Amino acid sequence: MPRKPLVIEIPALGALDAAPGEIGRRLAEALRGAILKGELKARERVPSTRSLAGSLGLARGTVSVAYAQLVAEGYLEARIGSATRVAADLHRLAISDATDARRKPAPRRPSPPATATANATPPATSAYAALATRLSALPSVPFSIAVPEGEVAMDHHWHRLSKRIRATPAAAPSGYPDAQGLPALRTALADYLRKSRAVDCDPEHIIITEGTQQGLYLAAKVLLQAGDFAWAEDPAYSGLTAVLEDRGVQVQRVPVDHQGFNVAAALQACPQAKAAFVTPSHQYPIGMPLSMARRIALTDWAASHNRWIVEDDYDSELRYAGQPFPAMQGLDRERVIYLGTFSKVLAPSLRLGYIVAPEALVAAFTGARALIGRGSPLSEQHVIATYMREGYFETHIRRIRSLYGEKRQILIDALRRELPALRIQPADQGMHIVLWLADDVAVAARAQAAGLAVRALSPMCHATPPLSGLMLGFGGYTAPQLQATVKKLRQLLS
Ligand SMILES: Cc1ncc(COP(=O)(O)O)c(C=O)c1O
Repeated sequence: MPRKPLVIEIPALGALDAAPGEIGRRLAEALRGAILKGELKARERVPSTRSLAGSLGLARGTVSVAYAQLVAEGYLEARIGSATRVAADLHRLAISDATDARRKPAPRRPSPPATATANATPPATSAYAALATRLSALPSVPFSIAVPEGEVAMDHHWHRLSKRIRATPAAAPSGYPDAQGLPALRTALADYLRKSRAVDCDPEHIIITEGTQQGLYLAAKVLLQAGDFAWAEDPAYSGLTAVLEDRGVQVQRVPVDHQGFNVAAALQACPQAKAAFVTPSHQYPIGMPLSMARRIALTDWAASHNRWIVEDDYDSELRYAGQPFPAMQGLDRERVIYLGTFSKVLAPSLRLGYIVAPEALVAAFTGARALIGRGSPLSEQHVIATYMREGYFETHIRRIRSLYGEKRQILIDALRRELPALRIQPADQGMHIVLWLADDVAVAARAQAAGLAVRALSPMCHATPPLSGLMLGFGGYTAPQLQATVKKLRQLLS
C-alpha cells in the first residue's frame, strides 16, 4: 500500500523568518503532537531529514536538531544505518494507541541502557516546559498589562500599614495558616464583595488563593475529571486553556459576539458539558460584557442540568463609563463559582486572590487548596485585611479607576493620532485595549524585539482564521511613555 504522505502542521510557523532554534522547537512540537495523536504510529518510519527539510523549506540542520530532541525525549529511535522511526513502545504513552495496546501486548524488548532511560523524559515534562514560555510574564514596560507603577502604585497607607501589621505578633512567623484563608480577610472580602460586586456570600464561602490562575486550576480539579467536557470562550485566556489541557478536559470553545459568550452555540455544539468557564463582566481579551439575557440562559442551564459556571472576574472593578457590572454569582450562588483577584487592583506580585464557592463545595475547595500549598502567606493576608477594614482599599480603587481612565484615554488618543487606519475595539473597562491588525504574531515578535511589551491575540483563538490584533496595556505608564511607545509601534508597522 502506498505510504500516506506525512502532513506536518507547525503551529504559528507563519513567521518562517523566526530564528532557526525557534522553528526547530515548533517542528519538534508538531511531531510530538502527531505522535501523541496517533497520526504517526509506533515503529513508523519518519521522513528523512533531507526530504522533510525539502518539503517544509527548512534547513536540513533544523530538522536534524528537532529529530535529535525527540530521540532524547524518547519519541523517536535512531540507529546508525537505518531509518529514524517512532519509538516502538510509544503505544503506552499515546492515548490514541491505547486500544491497540490492549489488543496485542507489546513484545518484550531488552531493557534500554541505563543512560537512555535517564535521558527519556515523559511527555508531561516537555508540555510543562512549553508552558514556561507560553505563560511567561512580559517585562514591566509599555504595553505590558497590570503594572502598578507610578501614580497607580499602592499608596502610603499601604506602606504604613504593611510596616505596622508585620510588626504585630499576629502577623509574625508562626505555624501553618488556615488553608481556607485568614478569617479576618475573608470577613473583609465578604463585606466588600456583597457591597461592590453584588456577590451573594458569607466569609465561610471564601477560600483565599494565590490568584485567579490558582482559582482556575482548583476549579478544574474540583469540578471536572479527565475526559469530561467543558465550555470555554473563544478567544480565551491562555492560563485557562492551559489548565484545562493539563487536567485532560475536553474543551469545547464557544464563540463570543457583541453579547459575549454564545450560550445557544455552546448548547448546540456540546450539550454534555459539565462546566462553563466565562469572563462575564469583561470578556477576555476582547472586552464586551455578557448580556443579561445570556447570563440568565447560562444560569438556567446550570440550574436545570446541575452544571457549574466558573466566573472569572479578573478586572471588573475598573470600569470607566459607569459602575462596574454586577457579578453573575449574585444570580445563583449554588451553581456559580466566583473567582476574584488582588492582581489588578493591588499588584500581581502579591499572588493573592479568592474563590467564592457554593456551600456544598467549600470543603472540597479548601481540601484542594491545602493539597497544592497548604494556604497563603499569613502576613500579607493580615495586611490586606486591615487595609480593607480601615476603608483604604475602596478609596484606592476609586483613585486608580480615575487614573487608569485617564491613561486609557491618552493611549486611545495616541493610537488614533498615529495609527488612524487601525480600528480599536470599543470597550469601557479593564487595563488593556485591543488594536485590530493583520499578522499579529509577526508584529508582536517584531515589537518585542524592539523592546515593546505586546501580546498577540490570535494564539488565544481556536477558530480559523483566528482573530488578529494586539493587546495594549496602559498600566501605570506616564503620558509621554505611552505616546512615545505608540510612535515606536507606528514606525514598526510602517
Ligand atoms: C482573564 C484572566 N484570568 C485570570 C488571570 C490571572 O490572574 P491572577 O494574577 O489573579 O492569577 C488573568 C491575568 O492576566 C486574566 O487576564
